[in-house]
Amino acid sequence: MPSIRSICCIGAGYVGGPTMAVIADRCPGVQVTVVDINQARIDAWNDADLSKLPVYEPGLDAVVGRARGRNLRFSTAVDEAIAAADMVFISVNTPTKTKGLGAGQASDLRWVEACARQVAKSATGHTIVVEKSTLPVRTAEAIKAILASAEASGGDRSFAVLSNPEFLAEGTAIPDLESPDRVLIGGEHPEAIDALACVYSHWVPQERILRTNLWSSELSKLTANAFLAQRISSINSVAALCEATGADVREVARAIGTDSRIGPKFLNAGPGFGGSCFQKDILNLVYLCRHFGLPDVADYWESVVQLNTWQQHRIARLVVQKLFGTVTGKRLAILGFAFKADTNDTREAPAIRIAKDLLEEGAQLAIHDPKVEPEQIARDLSLPASEAPNAESGPTRASLSGEGTWWPSASVAAALEGADSVLILTEWNQYRQLDWTDLAQRMRQPAWVFDARSVVDPDQVHAAGLKLWRIGEGQP
Ligand code: UDX
Ligand code: UDX
Repeated sequence: MPSIRSICCIGAGYVGGPTMAVIADRCPGVQVTVVDINQARIDAWNDADLSKLPVYEPGLDAVVGRARGRNLRFSTAVDEAIAAADMVFISVNTPTKTKGLGAGQASDLRWVEACARQVAKSATGHTIVVEKSTLPVRTAEAIKAILASAEASGGDRSFAVLSNPEFLAEGTAIPDLESPDRVLIGGEHPEAIDALACVYSHWVPQERILRTNLWSSELSKLTANAFLAQRISSINSVAALCEATGADVREVARAIGTDSRIGPKFLNAGPGFGGSCFQKDILNLVYLCRHFGLPDVADYWESVVQLNTWQQHRIARLVVQKLFGTVTGKRLAILGFAFKADTNDTREAPAIRIAKDLLEEGAQLAIHDPKVEPEQIARDLSLPASEAPNAESGPTRASLSGEGTWWPSASVAAALEGADSVLILTEWNQYRQLDWTDLAQRMRQPAWVFDARSVVDPDQVHAAGLKLWRIGEGQP
């Protein structure tokens, strides 16, 4: 079986960084170099202080600590790393296009194409190119065409292209990589597939390594994300119905989840899905369906994204309604800004849309998140942070003028000081253990707890004299 000795990964992001760290950890005989055009990001990956890695993932620091300096390197010397590699992973971002053909739906492939051209320029000998980024179906064709013209230009260079989508979820990236449900390898050259399978076989059982053709592999990734996201929109639609009828979505989820055909996972109603993948990949699927003349199929999947957006606006509207129809000048605490727990990632976080709606209504938001930097929140809200107001003062004249403002809070207690309500948007573990009796005393009464993640103990909140709204809980 052909054996890989040197791997280069282009893109040191949430996917490339952890994935390569685990490969290096599990394959000590393979030299792994992760490259990125972003010098600051590479510097952070090389920081001696492992708590400063650019990606927060439980367990990542230990894996990087073991492999870095042994067979794992982070560098900005892209050409050099490509030249030395037998296998190049492309793990750069593919955001939704914001302008031009397919704006708002199609993926922007300019970085992927640039990578393919760079590989075409710098590779030596036989190089296996692996698509790790999630890509629209048939992107491999474009990569192959670029590499084929490099082959034709002479020399002894040759290429094989594989698709090897990543299924890790943020927050559980390390366990997901260490014991994946499956590894999917799509391609046309059996030897290239074997070479990549051999890398994974250091720790993944053979029966979990699935081989398909290129297009099936690319489409499987989009489909897996579409199915997962669809479950969330489905349960969120049911949550709204539960609230209207007196049912409880947690009870409904438990009841349907025990049906082995449905299964219990991914049935948590919440403020809608975030993350860099679900919305982007579904919109991409929608674009592909339209392109291939399947408008009804496109509409079907598009509704999953529409329901998600609706859910986020619905929660913001509901907060305003409960607070006597106005939040202008009122202090509201937001607990959790990351799109899910155990990550510092805020891409497409539900908190962004909900906070923006509340700011639009003139609210004063105290935002707490254990891992997200205030600068990131400012970028996401397109609004710089304000000074935290004095706790005792009521709404200021400036705030009553209707300007929405926000400031970062270093603790939950500080965020709730003088607040009329608290809105929980990320299921961080620490929010499950709050002392509501103490917190209630800091708030302005009557005060509301809006729990969009089912993390609080309702009895404790009620005992503290607070009003409670929980996602998907109707009043029987
Ligand atoms: C990205 C995609 O969003 C996802 O669809 C895909 O499956 C994997 O790659 P992620 O790792 O989360 O996911 O993206 P990001 O954290 O933005 O990292 C991408 C990195 O690539 C960035 O650090 C960026 O600087 C780097 N990059 C981008 C390059 O090194 N070269 C380029 O030409 C473009
Ligand atoms: C997802 C896929 O799970 C992963 O396989 C793929 O590689 C990338 O996209 P990720 O976005 O990192 O991973 O996290 P995930 O755990 O899937 O959560 C996505 C969003 O759905 C989060 O905002 C999460 O809070 C939300 N969610 C998830 C729910 O609202 N309810 C659930 O029951 C599960």
